[in-house]
Amino acid sequence: MLRTPAAVQDAERHTAHNYHPLPVVISSAEGAWLTDVDGRRYLDCLAGYSALNFGHRHPTLIAAAHAQLDRLTLTSRAFIHDQFADFCRELAALCGKELVLPMNTGAEAVETGIKVARKWGYQVKGVPDGAANIVVAEGNFHGRTTTIVSFSTDDDARADFGPYTPGFRVVPYGDLTALSEAVDEHTVAVLLEPIQGEQGVVVPPEGYLPGVRRLCTERNVLFIADEIQSGLGRTGATFACEQAGVVPDMYLLGKALGGGIVPVSAVAADADVLGVLKPGQHGSTFGGNPLACAVATEVVRLLATGEFQRRSAELGERLHTGLRALIGKGLVAVRGRGLWAGLDIDPALMSGREACERLMARGVLAKDTHGSTIRLAPPLVITADEIDHALTQLAAVLAS
Ligand SMILES: Cc1ncc(COP(=O)(O)O)c(C=O)c1O
Repeated sequence: MLRTPAAVQDAERHTAHNYHPLPVVISSAEGAWLTDVDGRRYLDCLAGYSALNFGHRHPTLIAAAHAQLDRLTLTSRAFIHDQFADFCRELAALCGKELVLPMNTGAEAVETGIKVARKWGYQVKGVPDGAANIVVAEGNFHGRTTTIVSFSTDDDARADFGPYTPGFRVVPYGDLTALSEAVDEHTVAVLLEPIQGEQGVVVPPEGYLPGVRRLCTERNVLFIADEIQSGLGRTGATFACEQAGVVPDMYLLGKALGGGIVPVSAVAADADVLGVLKPGQHGSTFGGNPLACAVATEVVRLLATGEFQRRSAELGERLHTGLRALIGKGLVAVRGRGLWAGLDIDPALMSGREACERLMARGVLAKDTHGSTIRLAPPLVITADEIDHALTQLAAVLAS
């Protein structure tokens, strides 16, 4: 008898229903493959929403975690530990920035970015106290805190969580004129995803990100790039901004930074920006803990080789070529970059959820977003043959 149905029910019984997972119960994983409680294997085409860029249980990362578990796991930032300096120095170097501030979740990195930008606005730019505004984009996804959902345009994320945090202006994504009109003398930052992941891997028009960069420089506004999902190799470069030839004032990082083992996020910026924070003004008990730093330092070293960015660029070509061939055969549009794709399924055929359930039955795990869209974000260790396998299964689902 299969164990999955009872295990699914069990998992739902004592939890809030704030997710709608596929009815699969995973018990182990390696590389790009997952195994469920009934021993069935699945190709992971979601990679923990890009938290598993290096695959499940990458040997280097697991070894670093094991070694650190045997020595020291937590000190709090009340004391300095011996993993901290390497992590901060190497991550700052990877980002081309002077300083980093480690936190845990992506939402915390975003909150940190907002706080730093506001303080920078008051202390450096000279914005009158309490008057700072930050311009954000329609369709954004930056996390789930009360402040972050205050400027979400997704009703599911925002409705009934008010009163909302003021100080944000929302403009259409990709529209430089609207952005320019929204920025005024009290604007401290423009906060954007260089590619909107949750919205369905939406790539902005050519010239948009360089235009944002120019505008921010001209108007003395910080450009904050939320690379929590787009960064660290996902798009075929270390940062999606890099592919647009743009350097933001602040990077927000998370997900893959923890190597799929621990939650690690960070803000990276130069000292004239991150330097505004003084003791007591921001922090987190677990932020920058020894275990997190030991794993994340190895993540940074993996990225420093360039191998994962290259894989994502090369294999991404294969993925996108295969996906484009399915346009008119069940797909109506494909977007994305590197090993990251948003597919719009013909809504007359099936919903995104239904497509994911059918893919699951064929041993491929992906996740729908917004109705008929599916996001594919396999681990960057996936092989060419495995990509072909996923494409074959997708074609079969669309033809069924
Ligand atoms: C672009 C972006 N920013 C922030 C977040 C929030 O990260 P977390 O779920 O770790 O809080 C996400 C998560 O999906 C994201 O995609």
